Amino acid sequence: MSVTFVLLLFLSQATSDPCYDPGGRPRFCLPPVTQLAGGVMASCPQACALPAGSGPGPAATCNSSLTLDLDGPFLLTSVSLRFCTPGPPALVLSAAWAAGGPWRLLWRRPAWPGVLGAPERVTFRSPPGPKAKVVVSHLRVEFGGQAGLAAAGVRGRCQCHGHAARCAARTRPPRCRCRHHTTGPGCESCRPSHRDWPWRPATPQHPHPCLPCSCNQHARRCRFNSELFRLSGGRSGGVCERCRHHTAGRHCHYCQPGFWRDPSQSITSRKACKACQCHPIGATGGTCNQTSGQCPCKLGVTGLTCNRCGPGYQQSRSPRMPCQRVPEATTTLATTPGASRSDPQCQNYCNVSDTSVHMSLQKYCQQDYVLHAQVLTFEVAGSAWRRLAVRVLAVYKQRAQPVRRGSQDAWVPRVDLACGCLRLRPGTDYLLLGSAAGDPDPARLVLDRHGLALPWRPRWARPLRRLQQEERAGGCRGLRPPTPSPGPEH
Ligand SMILES: *[C@@H]1O[C@H](CO)[C@@H](O)[C@H](O)[C@H]1NC(C)=O
Ligand SMILES: *[C@@H]1O[C@H](CO)[C@@H](O)[C@H](O)[C@H]1NC(C)=O
Ligand SMILES: *[C@@H]1O[C@H](CO)[C@@H](O)[C@H](O)[C@H]1NC(C)=O
Repeated sequence: MSVTFVLLLFLSQATSDPCYDPGGRPRFCLPPVTQLAGGVMASCPQACALPAGSGPGPAATCNSSLTLDLDGPFLLTSVSLRFCTPGPPALVLSAAWAAGGPWRLLWRRPAWPGVLGAPERVTFRSPPGPKAKVVVSHLRVEFGGQAGLAAAGVRGRCQCHGHAARCAARTRPPRCRCRHHTTGPGCESCRPSHRDWPWRPATPQHPHPCLPCSCNQHARRCRFNSELFRLSGGRSGGVCERCRHHTAGRHCHYCQPGFWRDPSQSITSRKACKACQCHPIGATGGTCNQTSGQCPCKLGVTGLTCNRCGPGYQQSRSPRMPCQRVPEATTTLATTPGASRSDPQCQNYCNVSDTSVHMSLQKYCQQDYVLHAQVLTFEVAGSAWRRLAVRVLAVYKQRAQPVRRGSQDAWVPRVDLACGCLRLRPGTDYLLLGSAAGDPDPARLVLDRHGLALPWRPRWARPLRRLQQEERAGGCRGLRPPTPSPGPEH
């Protein structure tokens, strides 16, 4: 019901609006002519005492001139004067924009047709045509002598520049009901949202409506820039003001610093611009690339928000350098050509795929050695081996050829590293479980795919000590290690 009503209202307005044609296109329009001022004004205090038409009366005198204050710009159409005395010697009508002039001559009536016995009436009409349009706020009538004036009537219409068909003529200043997206008492400017073109008065040939700025629904206001209008070849001069939703730019068409353009949202969406969310430590600032959202990352840091270390870098504790370069040797080891985890050569090559082990006494007894050691550096040693500098921190299970505590070398087959059987990083503590299988030199400390390297957890120390005590108490006797140790028992 209400929808139908609103629609009907809209239709009736559309059809009855003289400022738009039935197809909805703007057209030139004018408010109606109305009575603007009447009676005798302040400069002519002694109005004729006699009612109109009752013959010449006592000298109701306007001494030489009369000024009418219309209080606002009007398009003058006619001025009528009614005298209660014989007409004055002459009549000069002038108009001004504001009180005090400058006065512009409208009409001069030099010769009065003699002395008349009846009240005299005289009317000036503004000539038709655009040239003769008279916009006035004040009128002055000069008589060349004294005259008894009964009434003055001024008619005209509001000056709405062809953009309004209705006007509140009695308000001060008179207010036009502006159309064509114009505003102001006389429709003399464009509405804040419609300033893409310069304001112009409508003419019967062209209605010159104000045109909307394209602000992608992020701004309600714009301003007209004549230089931009000129540069655009007269197509567009609007500059959006106070873009919302974190947008910026002449058409609110890109994002503010600290935000980036979400490509999954349309530019007119309130969510078109997303906050950058640069990581406070990983990024060098909070302003990301406006098209990709990429934050500026510190050296070695990667990710859209700079939240992780790039290839060849590992996390550090330094907020200044949150990612530090992994020492060169490791990276070359990890990418040793000839073998990789996906390489067929690596299929079923490694024994242990997971990184945890259930350490029973039996398992413990099967190990050739159990060490807590820190891996310090890597080094290429020939085509088949990698030499590790390690620092042995604790020996839980001693092998036949004793391993001493402290710094020493350990050896890892290149392929075992490349296939990922052992994952070792310099500067990290490990629990190393060793097997003597395939060890070419019993004196060397070898770690290979039959063994295991688990990143060290301090909570492992206590159970390992217990296993060590059990072993010393003869707990491994009867539990045979998988490969018999060639060396002597001590
Ligand atoms: C009319 O104006 C003239 C000149 O301005 C002045 O001399 C005269 O006294 C005035 N007469 C009256 C009645 O105000
Ligand atoms: C922002 O990212 C785009 C696309 O990735 C790229 O073409 C452009 O050069 C970047 N801009 C800056 C200032 O880095
Ligand atoms: C490795 O796997 C082989 C075959 O499955 C097995 O005989 C050997 O005991 C395993 N070694 C270790 C240390 O688990």
